Amino acid sequence: MITMPISAETDMRAPANARTALPPGPRGRLFIGNLPMLFGDGLATVEGWARQYGDIFFWRAFGLPFCYLTHPDHIEQVLVTRNQDFVKGVSARISPLFFGQGLITSEGELWRRQRRLMQPAFHRRQIARYGQVMVECTEKMLASWRAGQVRDLHSDLDHLTIEIVARVLFNLDLRSHIGQLEDTSRAFHARVARGPAFVYAMRFLPTPVNLRYVWTVKRFERAIYGIIHDRQSSGRSSDDLLTTLLQVRDEDGQAMSERQIRDELMTIIGAGNDTTTLALSYAWHELARHPEVEARLTAELDEVLGNRPPQVEDLPRLIYTEKVIKEALRLYPPVWAFVREATAPFEIGGYCLPPRTNFVLPPWIVHHDPRFFGQPLEFRPERWTEEFERELPKFAYFPFGGGQRTCIGASFAKMQTSLMLATMAQRFRCRLAPGFELRLRPTITLQPKAGVAVIAERR
Ligand code: HEM
Repeated sequence: MITMPISAETDMRAPANARTALPPGPRGRLFIGNLPMLFGDGLATVEGWARQYGDIFFWRAFGLPFCYLTHPDHIEQVLVTRNQDFVKGVSARISPLFFGQGLITSEGELWRRQRRLMQPAFHRRQIARYGQVMVECTEKMLASWRAGQVRDLHSDLDHLTIEIVARVLFNLDLRSHIGQLEDTSRAFHARVARGPAFVYAMRFLPTPVNLRYVWTVKRFERAIYGIIHDRQSSGRSSDDLLTTLLQVRDEDGQAMSERQIRDELMTIIGAGNDTTTLALSYAWHELARHPEVEARLTAELDEVLGNRPPQVEDLPRLIYTEKVIKEALRLYPPVWAFVREATAPFEIGGYCLPPRTNFVLPPWIVHHDPRFFGQPLEFRPERWTEEFERELPKFAYFPFGGGQRTCIGASFAKMQTSLMLATMAQRFRCRLAPGFELRLRPTITLQPKAGVAVIAERR
């Protein structure tokens, strides 16, 4: 359910008094102005602002200043050219209970050290050996499907991706903890449903939503500590990230603290599971609506694989499969927007914004901009030709972020989504369940409000 393209008839010139003026945007209605964002259709509200105000607009919510940047050149300034003047800021501070000081929220020297230590585990060559597990787990899920059943694909995929992340990164079978993780995830999304500013403003209040969140996170945390202790006491070493985290030493010979290991494990599970599930759920939603795309996809699978399951070595030849994923990530970017906080005054587009401004970088808006994507609301995997990609401005497409804090799991996610999609599409085709209509809820990620209900038919 995407509403309208962002026909950004943008005037890139700033007003004469720009250096003193704030960018345009909805103002002067401190609380009322927040209501559509909190209780209405948040995505439509931001789309409306982008249409009305152009590439830079400003919004103050609960006293926090937010500046939206929707031009690729401006986004590149924040993520790459001037990245030293930004921190994660408010987005890192709203959920310390779950992520702690893990890779996605830490800053400065701690982040640099942890990224350096963890990067090798996510290298393309390292993760290639996980391909088989990804396919096996997917086949196991498919074995429980019955033709003609209505299924919530989002929920099925959620189970599956957590199992895969746990197996390949921690060599763990987390099945017994999946229910707990799902509770935690539901409580997390309920908490962040009204946007980061609202969460930030309400974070210390003992609301039912906050209390449930604390309870589920603490319960899941106990399970994670249990896993760490088991591994430590067994002395067992395994070729996985948990072993890397336990064995790694910094320049002074210091091991990572138990708390840091917990934070990194929770971060990887939190960041890797939900996003991958969403990417595949939306890819299937579009395949169900576009039989011609599905037919092209299966023709490629038949030609390259015949009846055998896919392997990592097949991926370079599964070109259309990759385009389907790429287009799903464009149309429905799982991380629909993310934030950086300026630590210094920042001049952009003729405006000068003060330190502590939160810059919102929204793939949702940029990915739907007709200046960069013809018929932006159409699902057209064919658009991803080499020539098209060459011409595309670097930050017109950024589902995995960019710059030094780009997603560490991007190669992992691309491999996993392609292998899972290929394995599933070989066996089943899906159509949307009668009466189902996709409704989106922008929390920290882009959630389907009522899942993705499909009827699976055997191929
Ligand atoms: C389709 C799937 C995925 C999408 C769309 C996605 C998207 C993103 C985005 C946009 C960021 C940058 C956020 C920012 O700059 O504020 C990010 C960071 C991150 N992602 Fe992913 N991600 C995906 C899969 C994964 C997977 C599978 C893992 C781990 C197994 C993972 C782990 C992380 C981590 C740890 C970070 C923080 C990196 C850092 O700050 O150094 N992600 N992801």
